[in-house]
Amino acid sequence: MADRVAELENELARVCAERDELARRLKEADRYRTAVNIAQVPMMCVSAIEGRYLFANEAFARIIGWTVDEILSGDAYHIWVTVTHPDDLEVERRAIERLARGEADVARHEKRLIHKNGEVRWYVAHVTALRLPDGRLEAIIVQFTDVHEQREAAEVRERLEAELRQKQKLEALGKLAGGVAHDFNNRLVIIMGYTELLKRSLPEGGTLAQHADMVLTSAQRAAELTHQLLAYSRRQVLMPQAFDLNETVDRMRRLLERLIGEDIQLVTSLAAEHRIFGDPGQIEQVILNLALNARDAMPNGGKLTLETSDVSLDADNSEGLPEGDYVTLVVRDTGTGIPESVLPHIFEPFFTTKATGKGTGLGLATVDGIVHQSGGSIRVESRVGEGTAFTIRLPRARANAPAAEQASPAPLPEPTMRSRNFETVLVCDDDDGVRKLVSDLLVFRGYRVLEASNGRQALELAARHGEAIDLLVTDVVMPEMGGNELARKLKERHPRLRVLYISGYSDDASLLSAPLEPGTFFLPKPFLPADLTRAVCSILEAPNRAQLADRID
Ligand SMILES: Nc1ncnc2c1ncn2[C@@H]1O[C@H](COP(=O)(O)OP(=O)(O)OP(=O)(O)O)[C@@H](O)[C@H]1O
Ligand SMILES: [Mg+2]
Repeated sequence: MADRVAELENELARVCAERDELARRLKEADRYRTAVNIAQVPMMCVSAIEGRYLFANEAFARIIGWTVDEILSGDAYHIWVTVTHPDDLEVERRAIERLARGEADVARHEKRLIHKNGEVRWYVAHVTALRLPDGRLEAIIVQFTDVHEQREAAEVRERLEAELRQKQKLEALGKLAGGVAHDFNNRLVIIMGYTELLKRSLPEGGTLAQHADMVLTSAQRAAELTHQLLAYSRRQVLMPQAFDLNETVDRMRRLLERLIGEDIQLVTSLAAEHRIFGDPGQIEQVILNLALNARDAMPNGGKLTLETSDVSLDADNSEGLPEGDYVTLVVRDTGTGIPESVLPHIFEPFFTTKATGKGTGLGLATVDGIVHQSGGSIRVESRVGEGTAFTIRLPRARANAPAAEQASPAPLPEPTMRSRNFETVLVCDDDDGVRKLVSDLLVFRGYRVLEASNGRQALELAARHGEAIDLLVTDVVMPEMGGNELARKLKERHPRLRVLYISGYSDDASLLSAPLEPGTFFLPKPFLPADLTRAVCSILEAPNRAQLADRID
């Protein structure tokens, strides 16, 4: 009996010790649970077998806007698809499948969690597998780190980098286009010039004259293309002046209505009170290109709206424009809209979604070139199925800027085509073919011609010549010394010198930023022989230089 008692006492002591150990462990577990519950790191554990949450801490409950009770009593799958951004479900599903297949014990991926209030934030999910002794997945523990700010900053950086790459790409394309167009224009001057001369020596109306005409027509088409390329590359010579954009829109009304057809309604709302400073012909081109695109986007009719208004932008405007006063032009349509995948490309040269032969893809490239070269900006907003709006800002003219009438006074008088010309013309162009053609044409008309292939040579020739030089006909962009500088230096010695720039291309801001000085004229390349001789004759014949037009079209 005594043995039995001793045995029971031992047993009791063992049970007590076991109980104390259990109580100790329980207390310890409680401490861990509390630690997990109050931890600031969002954490939860999901049973892979029962499909429910085994635990979730306050921090986790907070980031999804649920209560811990709601989480623990809910269906794990349902909660998962509710709080996970739909675009991230697949990534996470694959990560957990890898854990389930035993291919990994931990996983790490980025995902967005949706808060009950709708807010979406980025987190990194650190997933750890808990396994049964036989290796099957029992549960997963997931911790979250908030990476929303980093992720957003990275996205902004990526977007800026992409924009920069795009900008650099377009700049390179612009340079290429400008260079090609410049060279092409010189070739076209020669093709058009000599074909025209050839034609004059052929029997009128004959087959050969017709062939010559076809060459000329073709060259003129090519000239239109080079013109667009130059506009795109922001290298064309602009003739800016102060003018009223509302008047331009009004004047274009009939033309636009005819272009867009009867099914499209044209609405204008012209609220701008200030004039803009730009090249009127080029701004018309902008409006025309945008209206044509709008028409093409509304094959079943719709509404085209043109709006103008005044706006002042501060230094940190989102359009990258200098602080100042602008006029806004909005061209809005109710057409097809532009899909997101297409939108980043619309300003690229030769980008078109239109059928071959329907569009060259140069419309918006030209618009973009003109607007930026004019010191403005362009923005586009579009919704598929609803329509598109292009918003353009153009610099406002200073109050004392010359008005359109003053900037281009009376047109040049028609020359009388005297039988004998006696003035001296200095021709400077680095392109041998162009220089020879221009000289030939002028010699043929009886002028005394001096030829130089660069600025230095031109100055030397002028110095050696000793007598008066009446007109300088010069290219604008030449190596070493540009036409502008040459003209300035020559004028120091020959103050009565008149200047005719022949160019299709400019890299000289001084020629672009202001109307040409009196006595200075511009003839765009390519031109026909008759254009050149008419320009030269009228400049030299005009009685009062100071009152001359500063522009020859
Ligand atoms: N208002 C608009 N609505 C819908 N899509 C437009 C609109 N404007 C431009 N786009 C899209 O942008 C592309 C480029 O336009 P862009 O004017 O440069 O070239 P294009 O009209 O295709 O050809 P081009 O103007 O040289 O005849 C178009 O092909 C079209 O997909
Ligand atoms: Mg177009």
